[in-house]
Amino acid sequence: MHRIGVFFMALAVTSVASSGDFPDPAKLPIKADLPDPLHMFNGKKVTSAKQWQNERVPELRRLFEHYMYGKAPPAPKVNAKVERVDKNALGGKATLKEITLTLQGIDGPKIHVLLVVPNKRKGPVPVFVGMNFCGNHAVLNDPKITLNPNWMYGNRKGVKDNKATEKSRGSDVDVWNIEDIIDRGYAVATFYSGDIDADRADERGIQKYFGKEFDWSTIRAWAWGFSRVIDYLETLEDEIDPKGIIVVGHSRLGKTALLCCAFDVRVALCIPHQAGCGGTGPSRPALGNKGAESVKRINTSFPHWFNKRFKDFNEEPERLPFDQHCLIAMCAPAPVLLSNAVDDKWANPDGQFNMLVAADPVYRLVAAEGVASKKMPAVGKLMDSPLGYWIREGKHSMNRDDWRVFLDFADKHLKAK
Ligand code: GCU
Repeated sequence: MHRIGVFFMALAVTSVASSGDFPDPAKLPIKADLPDPLHMFNGKKVTSAKQWQNERVPELRRLFEHYMYGKAPPAPKVNAKVERVDKNALGGKATLKEITLTLQGIDGPKIHVLLVVPNKRKGPVPVFVGMNFCGNHAVLNDPKITLNPNWMYGNRKGVKDNKATEKSRGSDVDVWNIEDIIDRGYAVATFYSGDIDADRADERGIQKYFGKEFDWSTIRAWAWGFSRVIDYLETLEDEIDPKGIIVVGHSRLGKTALLCCAFDVRVALCIPHQAGCGGTGPSRPALGNKGAESVKRINTSFPHWFNKRFKDFNEEPERLPFDQHCLIAMCAPAPVLLSNAVDDKWANPDGQFNMLVAADPVYRLVAAEGVASKKMPAVGKLMDSPLGYWIREGKHSMNRDDWRVFLDFADKHLKAK
């Protein structure tokens, strides 16, 4: 059963105000402190878990779509073609599959999924689902993995003229640490963000194939892509535990993982790593680190990540009728681990902790438990409550130490059940 369980049916029939009902950004009041997640847009107080799920979550979805990430279309059916199976991957520890996903009726991009499942397992296992920055051929040292043909970031290893070359194989092995994940009994499903939408302001990806009524930004499209991969994973009854879907991502892809979890009730646990502004960090600048990225800056550097309306908050983010604690709260009761590094002030580690604490009242209402403490844990010490936090020494990167912590957090919340 999905995380919302009993509320799910009711959610489908509840009518909520349409996004057309929300005022222009300039007409919203300035609110320097955080909007209370437990107050509806019209001021009505949310007093029960049921009301949260049936009324407030749908309203927040519409608010985030309207003012920030844009609206995405309903999901078409996902068709899967298994291209290759290697039952002897990682020295016999795992079965590796390359799968191509297409969307029925849409003659658009294909999503290339790399699925690695441990061979030593008693039944279906939980799975880490994550987008990668460099293509599936970069996450393992395996010459047989198909080289991704799409546009790539020019500054990545082995990329020439924005295309992957043989030299880019295995360049992200230490970012993904797939062998460690397999050794701990989890599967991994990964895919390249550019399969859905290349990270370019001058070109749209999958959005081109859907109607103009959808103003979905790149981050919204990526999160929607995550959900299409989950559509597929849910069909793999013998391999994947549908109650063990974990979404993970680094930085812009961490913003995406959080958005996916907030919009997709099938996600059981979420790890947005160093996600910062537009993800886990506050939009209100007073609530975080000095030197953290601002709404204006992110909208200027990466205008395609958010919808057009979000730019109206550049000068006055205090007009936003939500902040990112609401996006975290929408994940309840799924455990969410905010993960950071001391030197990565740009991603706003302090501000993120404030967002976590501000989501706590919702978790207490819906899940009975939220943050273990309102004080940030010491560097290198995991706070593993359902609203979890981790900060290590070092800089902006995803590494083996981070994965050890991600796996500990997942063990605590999924394996214990
Ligand atoms: C930039 C951007 C961040 C983003 C990061 C990344 O630094 O400003 O918002 O998280 O890129 O994705 O690595």
